[in-house]
Amino acid sequence: MANLSIPLSFLFICVLFLGKGVLELEASHHIFERYQTSPKFLHKSLVNQAYRTGYHFQPPKHWINGISGRISMSFWSYFSYPNGSATILPGGKPVILYTGIDPQERQVQNLAMPKNLSDPYLTEWIKYPKNPVMAPTPMNKINASSFRDPTTAWLGPDKMWRVLIGSRVNKLGLAVLYKSKDFKHWILAKKPLHSAEGTGMWECPDFFPVKTNGYEGLDTSAEGKKMKYVLKNSLDETKHDYYTIGTYDAVKDKYFPDKGMIEGDSGLRYDYGKFYASKTFFDSEKHRRILWGWANESSSVKDDVQKGWAGVQAIPRKVWLDKYGKQLLQWPIKEIEKLCGNQVKWPSKILEGGSKLEVTSVTAGQADIEVEFEVSHELKKVEVLKKKQYNPQFLCSKKSASVRGGLGPFGFLTFASNTLSEYTAVFFRIYKHNNKHKVLMCSDQSRSSLNKHNDNTTYGAFVDVDPAREPLSLKSLIDRSIVESFGGGGKAVITARVYPTQAIDNQIKLFVFNNGTSSVKITFLNSWSMNKAHIS
Ligand SMILES: *[C@@H]1O[C@H](CO)[C@@H](O)[C@H](O)[C@H]1NC(C)=O
Ligand SMILES: *[C@@H]1O[C@H](CO)[C@@H](O)[C@H](O)[C@H]1NC(C)=O
Ligand SMILES: *[C@@H]1O[C@H](CO)[C@@H](O)[C@H](O)[C@H]1NC(C)=O
Ligand SMILES: *[C@@H]1O[C@H](CO)[C@@H](O)[C@H](O)[C@H]1NC(C)=O
Ligand SMILES: *[C@@H]1O[C@H](CO)[C@@H](O)[C@H](O)[C@H]1NC(C)=O
Ligand SMILES: *[C@@H]1O[C@H](CO)[C@@H](O)[C@H](O)[C@H]1NC(C)=O
Repeated sequence: MANLSIPLSFLFICVLFLGKGVLELEASHHIFERYQTSPKFLHKSLVNQAYRTGYHFQPPKHWINGISGRISMSFWSYFSYPNGSATILPGGKPVILYTGIDPQERQVQNLAMPKNLSDPYLTEWIKYPKNPVMAPTPMNKINASSFRDPTTAWLGPDKMWRVLIGSRVNKLGLAVLYKSKDFKHWILAKKPLHSAEGTGMWECPDFFPVKTNGYEGLDTSAEGKKMKYVLKNSLDETKHDYYTIGTYDAVKDKYFPDKGMIEGDSGLRYDYGKFYASKTFFDSEKHRRILWGWANESSSVKDDVQKGWAGVQAIPRKVWLDKYGKQLLQWPIKEIEKLCGNQVKWPSKILEGGSKLEVTSVTAGQADIEVEFEVSHELKKVEVLKKKQYNPQFLCSKKSASVRGGLGPFGFLTFASNTLSEYTAVFFRIYKHNNKHKVLMCSDQSRSSLNKHNDNTTYGAFVDVDPAREPLSLKSLIDRSIVESFGGGGKAVITARVYPTQAIDNQIKLFVFNNGTSSVKITFLNSWSMNKAHIS
């Protein structure tokens, strides 16, 4: 039976493991009952109901209806082996490489095959009798305690399969490379595909091609011109997923990040909030690459035990390369539109400095909201950003929604209580730096709850949009204890986890606000109540 310490501390968590943990936790909820005291801010009904997400999945069953066959297959195979990755072999036969622990307590890589290929969901898998297929030895000098999380494999021009395993040597993060002809016998390559000093252990590496033009995804084994590669690693030390964009030399088996790419924590991130151990896969039915990620709790372990569950899956996101090739863009997959209920639409309007407008007629605690701001007429009012303030998260933590600026803060107040004793602000501020405009996006957990036992980090990121030339969009997916926010059409994404005590159920309000001194123009606003995802 599962216990809460598994999802919170277990090592091999690439993506869906935690979802599985949640499922088991829900089933065994009664084991926590005896720990339930009555802390000041949390009564039982609130704990049990208020924060449980409506359309983000916790247990796997939530989503199985709305998604295509291929996705649900990948989904179930990941659920069976959440510590591994599936690869579809020629002929359509899937296999999974996953991390195991051998009798000598070494981390090793194993192979599993579906038991019954006619079962559309591939619910049962058998382990290959000759496991492990990759193991640390004194010869290969791999650290037996730091060798895990195989990627989806890809086929090179020499018709050999390749797979990466996360590892490290002291502070040097490594993507160890293995090659195989038959998927059963694997040979360690002389050099890792890539490594970066100072980054520590690389968990859940992910390596995939992206097109240099357009939204379409590519198969992991795709070859050709007009493509770039993405290498993502989950940093064990900081719990951040960062990525670089670069080129891959399939003959030398080396990955080269493009000039200017930053390795490690201050590099590009899928999400500048709570998002870890993510993984992508190619959906060949809809020709797109989909990103799965996991958002853990911001509440105390004690409160998690009371809730009886921990961790939610972020809404799956489509990912593709920005037209300038400098970063990825992300957007919630189309399937979530099926959950959209009542819609509210606003025409263009001016939002004066120091004002806010309530978005009524949507269920504010379970909603999708998007807005586009036009600020080009007010750009003379922006403040200058000094070099020492150049860390976005630091800047956001110093300048909350209540600190009025020249242009900004403007954005949403989500999970707002009647008296604004609680709110989670998601907003922009515009600055000038070296004669260029710099757009800061913040997502502030620090005023979200009167319960002070929660993580109160204010997350921040710069959004690569020039507000003189283009409007600035913001979309948030709000769901009971999660706010996933997409700035600049998916150029910067920030996920927050929040636990209001007053802004709960029908007491939750949603506003668009502008606390700057200049006005901003809302060119449009659309918002939907989101239905609960169906349980099959
Ligand atoms: C990975 O998952 C498989 C299947 O659930 C399991 O047999 C194996 O022990 C897991 N590995 C680790 C290291 O927990
Ligand atoms: C395999 O799955 C198919 C489809 O679900 C089922 O009809 C068949 O009985 C299964 N075969 C075995 C040996 O379980
Ligand atoms: C091997 O991995 C373990 C566990 O992460 C770590 O404590 C140790 O420092 C690693 N050794 C080297 C040489 O990296
Ligand atoms: C989970 O959340 C806590 C508190 O917000 C954070 O310190 C921790 O690093 C997170 N863990 C992961 C794996 O993201
Ligand atoms: C807007 O700024 C004023 C003045 O600083 C402050 O009192 C108010 O709380 C701010 N509004 C929000 C939503 O932070
Ligand atoms: C955030 O949490 C820290 C540590 O618990 C605390 O010192 C700080 O005062 C909190 N900040 C706010 C704005 O609540």
